[in-house]
Amino acid sequence: MAKVLPVVIYPDPLLRERSAEIEDIDDDLRSFVEDMAVTMYATDGLGLAAVQVGVTKRIFIIEPQAAGGTKEDPVLVFINPEIIRSEGQDRAEEGCLSLPGVFVSVPRAEKVTIRATDLDGNTFEMEADGILAKAFQHELDHLDGKLIIDYVGPVKRKLALRHLDPHKYDDL
Ligand code: NI
Repeated sequence: MAKVLPVVIYPDPLLRERSAEIEDIDDDLRSFVEDMAVTMYATDGLGLAAVQVGVTKRIFIIEPQAAGGTKEDPVLVFINPEIIRSEGQDRAEEGCLSLPGVFVSVPRAEKVTIRATDLDGNTFEMEADGILAKAFQHELDHLDGKLIIDYVGPVKRKLALRHLDPHKYDDL
C-alpha cells in the first residue's frame, strides 16, 4: 500500500543537498514513486521532488493535470531529468510544499524541453510552456538544492519567510 510520506520543511539542510543520479530503476523505486504520488495529492502539490520526502535522488513527479491529463491518469515521472532547451522569459509567483505559506516571484524560461528517463527505463523528451515549464524548472532546482527564496534579495526573502508555517505538515 502506498503511504503518505512526511514532507521535509525549510530550513532542513537536506533541501540544500544535490541529489544523486539514479542507476537502478527497480520495484523499490516504483513503490517509492507510488508513495510520492499519494504524498503529492495529500498535500495538494503540483509536483514533488524526492528530496522533499527525504530521498536525495534525481527524480521528481508532476500531476497529470498539469500536462493536460486527468487525475485518473498516472503521475508524470522524471528520472535523471535535464533541461536540454529553453527559450523566452517569464515570471510568476511560486509556492513550494517545503516552504508552506511562502510565495515569491520567480523568473523562469518561458518554454523548455526536458529529457528524462521513465519508470520503464526509457529516455523521453517533453516540451512545455506555461505552468508545466515552470514546474519542470522548479522541481529540477530541488534536485540541485535550490529553492524559490534564492531568487529574491535578502529583504524580500525575510518578508516572505515571515509567512512560513513549519507546522503545517506535522500530521502527515
Ligand atoms: Ni518546491
